[in-house]
Amino acid sequence: MGKGVKARSGSGLFALIQLHYHSRNAGRTLQPMKIGTYYYPEQWPREQWERDFDNIAKLGLQIVHMAEFAWFELEPRPGEFQFDWLSHCLDLAKQRKLDVILCTPTAAPPIWLSQQFPRTLPVYDGQICGRFGGRRHYNPLSPDFQAATRRIVHAMADRFGDHPSVIGWQIDNEYSNPFDQSEITHAAFRQWLRDKYGNIRDLNRAWGNQFWNTYYTDFDQILFPPSRDPRYANPHQALDASRFWSWAFAQYNRIQAEILKPKIGRRFLTTNFMGLQPDCDPGDMAKDLSLIAWDSYPVTGHEKEGNDETYRIANPAQIGLAHDLMASYHNRWGLMELQPGHVNWSGVPVRLYPGAIRLWIWTAFAHGSEFVTTYRFRQPRFGIELFHHGLVGTDGVTPSPGGKQFAQVIEEMRKLDLSRIPKFADEPPQPRQTVGLVLDFEQLWYYLTLPQARRWDQPRWLTSWYAALSRLGAQIRILRPGADWPTDLPLIVAPGVQMVDDQLMARFDAYARSGGNLVLTCRTGLMDRTGQLWEGPWASPILPLISATIEGYDSLRDDRFGKITFDGREFSWGVWGDQLTPTAGVEVLATYSDQFYAGAAAVTRAKLGQGTVSYFGAFSEQPLVDAFIESLAKFIGPGRLQSQSLPARVQVLRRGPYRIALNYQDRPVPTPAPPSAKFLIGSSRLAPADVAVWEE
Ligand code: GAL
Repeated sequence: MGKGVKARSGSGLFALIQLHYHSRNAGRTLQPMKIGTYYYPEQWPREQWERDFDNIAKLGLQIVHMAEFAWFELEPRPGEFQFDWLSHCLDLAKQRKLDVILCTPTAAPPIWLSQQFPRTLPVYDGQICGRFGGRRHYNPLSPDFQAATRRIVHAMADRFGDHPSVIGWQIDNEYSNPFDQSEITHAAFRQWLRDKYGNIRDLNRAWGNQFWNTYYTDFDQILFPPSRDPRYANPHQALDASRFWSWAFAQYNRIQAEILKPKIGRRFLTTNFMGLQPDCDPGDMAKDLSLIAWDSYPVTGHEKEGNDETYRIANPAQIGLAHDLMASYHNRWGLMELQPGHVNWSGVPVRLYPGAIRLWIWTAFAHGSEFVTTYRFRQPRFGIELFHHGLVGTDGVTPSPGGKQFAQVIEEMRKLDLSRIPKFADEPPQPRQTVGLVLDFEQLWYYLTLPQARRWDQPRWLTSWYAALSRLGAQIRILRPGADWPTDLPLIVAPGVQMVDDQLMARFDAYARSGGNLVLTCRTGLMDRTGQLWEGPWASPILPLISATIEGYDSLRDDRFGKITFDGREFSWGVWGDQLTPTAGVEVLATYSDQFYAGAAAVTRAKLGQGTVSYFGAFSEQPLVDAFIESLAKFIGPGRLQSQSLPARVQVLRRGPYRIALNYQDRPVPTPAPPSAKFLIGSSRLAPADVAVWEE
């Protein structure tokens, strides 16, 4: 640390924010979305802690997130706890009326644990043991690791479980790891399979082991595969392996949850997921958690679309899809990590568009997040993430562009009457303004294992439908096959639900027959839940719903696109295209306009009972999905679905009496507000990456 650096805590921005600090705290309990930051006291000299806590408070932040990765500092030797530093930091938070999210530190096991119990370390393909020196170097199935986990979590829960500043607990950090190859894991996989199948004949059948005579005669012969990619071996086994690996993290998470729950009262219990990262299906852990949280890093520099600057702002559909997925489990969700500026890990560290972070915070609020915290307050000066931005820069005190945007949103939120915003869980879906999107984690796994077309990207396909639906200005509910669905939705889209069972088919059927408008897309209903094709015509379970047969499919090289005519206009597709043969009475909405099958049906709509089933046969580019959804909304009509035609990348959402418009374009757009709108934030014109909030 250079001399004199400490003296800079009173910068202009801090002083400005300080003016409002006390009034904020007066209304604190009404805050529908708290905003805060990660802080790692153990990474900074003790004499800077007070100053840092002061600056966190002065910036207007309301939450400090601590103890993640601090296992060694909390337990420097096995069973010897050193909690005073954390207790002191909790006091520093309390004195400043800051809430705390406490973390269990298990994502970073200490050296003594790795050294004493090498079998806690992961074993990857090629027998290389995951080494000490980074993080996530543990096997969640290792009994020694679980024992060490129990000890530290019990001790933390006993000491801090009912601390008045703590509002919630985060377990571990971003569960994920390559498929472990240790004997511990192979044995656990075998036991999981025994529990699932009961006998080896049923397993052989479910895995199709008559193929190449790959029969097993005993569960003990089975190995846990090295990856989700079957490497030309058994895809059904790989699918079970994905299920098992997610289960492995879930059972590890349960160990911690069961220790914490009785000691933390009504505080929330969560872990931070990574959106659609495949190692963990949040559904496997949801029952052990009271709130679902995720980490959002929306700008990586990798976005392919467009030559404009929207890649500096992010794709709002990707963000919205993950937000709404997290909300779908308990109607309680939080944004645990929000990108504060540059990241260190993407390889393309583009500079963010001015205002993008402010836009993301408002987006989380609009989708009902209970809190937003950011990784991290101070930019690190050491370690692998030293290029990662924080809310303050390398001097430890000067707000970064991200820090200023956090402060700005905190200021802006004061303009809202928080008492008029119900908790997200208490806001019922507005029947004529809500549509459904089916998302089933199992499908993501099987597409990774068996993509068939290398361009098939299921997260992209889901995002594409989300983007089209959000242009209707509708609220989007993520529907999971096993969960309750709101009744009376005017429109449900099920993109690429490849594996189905009787229950899901009955649900689709009943929904359409009772007057719903169901959209199925290519690669729906091809297989059972083991991932085996039906003995029958292609996609047989859905044929009675769509009143058509699928004559064949096509997929084009990466740089080739075919044409589809819809509504008198031509659109491109390339990833996948089903050619349909509809029965009489089925409307053909779109046809292929080139290739040898020109004229074949690509999109159809059939009547079923009181409702309709559309079949969208092509994994097309975005414009066709948008045009189709827009025309379907018109067909459904405003009596059933009140929709708008929003520009691409512009979202409008509602919280209580407020409407929030979010512009993810890099150019200005007119704010989609009626003339009667009373603006609290923004005006009738949305600048690039801008936000407007109004009452109608
Ligand atoms: C997250 C992780 C954080 C930090 C961050 C960097 O995925 O949870 O600990 O590494 O990435 O962007």
